[in-house]
Amino acid sequence: MILITGASGSVGKAVLQEAIRKASKVRAMYRSKEEAAKAPSGCEVRLADYADKQSLGKALDGVTSVFVVCSPIPQLVELESNVVDGCKESGVKHVVLNSALGAGDYPKSFPGWHRKVEDKLKATGMSCTILRPNGFLQNIVAYNAPSIRSQGAFFAAMGDAKVSYLDIGDIAAVAVKALQGGAHSGKTYELHGPEAISDQELAKRISRVAGRAVNYVDIPESAQREAMLGLGMPEWQVTALLELQQYYKQGGGAKTDGLLKALIERQPVTLDQYLTANAREFRDQAASA
Ligand SMILES: NC(=O)c1ccc[n+]([C@@H]2O[C@H](COP(=O)([O-])OP(=O)(O)OC[C@H]3O[C@@H](n4cnc5c(N)ncnc54)[C@H](OP(=O)(O)O)[C@@H]3O)[C@@H](O)[C@H]2O)c1
Repeated sequence: MILITGASGSVGKAVLQEAIRKASKVRAMYRSKEEAAKAPSGCEVRLADYADKQSLGKALDGVTSVFVVCSPIPQLVELESNVVDGCKESGVKHVVLNSALGAGDYPKSFPGWHRKVEDKLKATGMSCTILRPNGFLQNIVAYNAPSIRSQGAFFAAMGDAKVSYLDIGDIAAVAVKALQGGAHSGKTYELHGPEAISDQELAKRISRVAGRAVNYVDIPESAQREAMLGLGMPEWQVTALLELQQYYKQGGGAKTDGLLKALIERQPVTLDQYLTANAREFRDQAASA
């Protein structure tokens, strides 16, 4: 039995869909009844909270492999550590941890948090695979599309730094293969999309698919901080995002290699494919309504 945690989230949902397609015994873990009610057919469902060890123990009962993911929140280290402890206590054979690019060489922000969980997982001696994905293609719609729709522009302090975005569905494909353990046991996979792209080039590509002018506006980091705080984002989140941006600005996310393609045994989703499939998200409010 495979357990997919975070089944209501972006990554967990994709891993669950892939697991149902590829594996026979799949269990999905949700925190709320509302989200559990949306579970796809083809899996068992359990309600559990990472903060509640008893509920975790029930979700882990009879499970051999676990996919672990948590929201990027300051409690991530404590919450995922509870899951790791639960796996060890329940006799789970193999754990796949969703970490983040930078966990190997950047001690700040989300990568720093993920590294603590990686180290904890390795220290248990359990068989495990660690996934360190680069930025998700899905971030482009989540973070950039709203201001593109309203102002025809998106704003950051990335300079001309490049990012090799990858598709969450491709991460899910790696995760489900890794859940089998075997040759994936003991591996840490840094996962990059097929093309490294600057925000200036991203704006050009979005313009092309959306059929409208879209600009990237490079702003000072202080202005970006003010803008994010003005939107009501908590201080810790703004600081973590800006620290992560520093990592990317220093070139941390610009690598491309053949690992993702080799692992999934097909071409990874490209930026242009993703933008074409989501073109309506970048058109004006009226067009996207
Ligand atoms: N965005 C990127 O480009 C990027 C790149 C690399 C790595 N990452 C990493 O990927 C992860 C984000 O994944 P995501 O986008 O799938 O996040 P997400 O959409 O926020 O999903 C997080 C999942 O964790 C669950 N969860 C949170 N707290 C829980 C608790 N106490 N008990 C049980 N479940 C709990 C959530 O359940 P609820 O629905 O109940 O909240 C949700 O299902 C982060 O760790 C991030 O650092 C992101």
